[in-house]
Amino acid sequence: MVKTIEWKDNKVVMLDQSKLPNEVAYITCTDHHRVAEGIKRLEIRGAPAIGIAAAMGIALGAQGIKAENFEEFTEGLQPIFDAMISTRPTAVNIHWAVERIKRYLFQNKEETVDHLKKLLIMEANKVLEDDISINRAIGQWGAAFIRDGDTILTHCNAGSLATGGYGTATAAMLVAQEQGKRIHVIADETRPVLQGARLTAWELMQAGIPVTLITDNTAGALMKKGMIDLAIVGTDRTTRNGDVANKIGTYTVGVLCREHGIPFYVAAPLSSIDFKMSSGDLIPIEERDADEVTTIGGRRIAPEGVHVINLAFDVTPAKYVTAFFTEKGVFRPGDLKKLMREDIDLESIRLKNI
Ligand code: MRU
Repeated sequence: MVKTIEWKDNKVVMLDQSKLPNEVAYITCTDHHRVAEGIKRLEIRGAPAIGIAAAMGIALGAQGIKAENFEEFTEGLQPIFDAMISTRPTAVNIHWAVERIKRYLFQNKEETVDHLKKLLIMEANKVLEDDISINRAIGQWGAAFIRDGDTILTHCNAGSLATGGYGTATAAMLVAQEQGKRIHVIADETRPVLQGARLTAWELMQAGIPVTLITDNTAGALMKKGMIDLAIVGTDRTTRNGDVANKIGTYTVGVLCREHGIPFYVAAPLSSIDFKMSSGDLIPIEERDADEVTTIGGRRIAPEGVHVINLAFDVTPAKYVTAFFTEKGVFRPGDLKKLMREDIDLESIRLKNI
């Protein structure tokens, strides 16, 4: 499995996903500005991966802060936090990473500035390690919902590349494959940036999972022919009522699944659930450059000057979601908010299998 991102020799090294699958190239970031730039340009993308990048970017930026005490150090960190948060608005994982780092700092406020700098590197690495084990857990729970012989539709890339490793939606597929289930994945190409064609198809082929690539508008026809058994997608931000922001076109998949009686699952680490936000209507939706729509591979396909709407994400209302695959188990949308409670008996709300 290729590494999406790592901390190496006091630098942040990330796989340049904008060049895949034609070129496997790495970007070495020597300052946090380059990390932020990489997130904006989709050189690193996918909600958990950009959360990890933010944590590492903060650790990197922290090394250059000149401060005598904790207060000066945290003052120096503020613009670095802001730089990370301002990169992409929809994925809550960036906010989650910043909050986690802030909490960690305050727990260690008695330490010297030099030691705090080292601790931030350790914590950023821990964010990465935790993500990998969270994804394994999502996979273990989610695989129970995949049967031998199933054909699974997925949209965008919620794979290894979108995370520290294993992916969220793909974790369930990888575990199902390890369990000996024969599965087949249908990957939506995911216009305009083609994460499905460029990234999901690439990584599933590497993992030895049979994959078929389709254009986004083919999914409905395949469902009608009975060729899709279930859909599994990722999320950039799910609100506590179970509304799901994910790559543009996910809403269409959710509605199509409902029409055809196909289960629609969302793989969601708790770091992608915004328990503070009550509904999907409140999620800020990133709008990206028109060039992503008017060109393909740098070649113009639409008339110069045409008006474009390029929403990077949409929101699928909770009513279309069959269940969420999380690291704590599989839950119905209505039960998601219960995960906020410390006293909840998870076993009483967990779904077991299909
Ligand atoms: O614009 P992107 O490529 O960052 O969008 C990614 C997605 O929509 C993923 O499905 C989501 O981040 C979940 S990744 C586990």
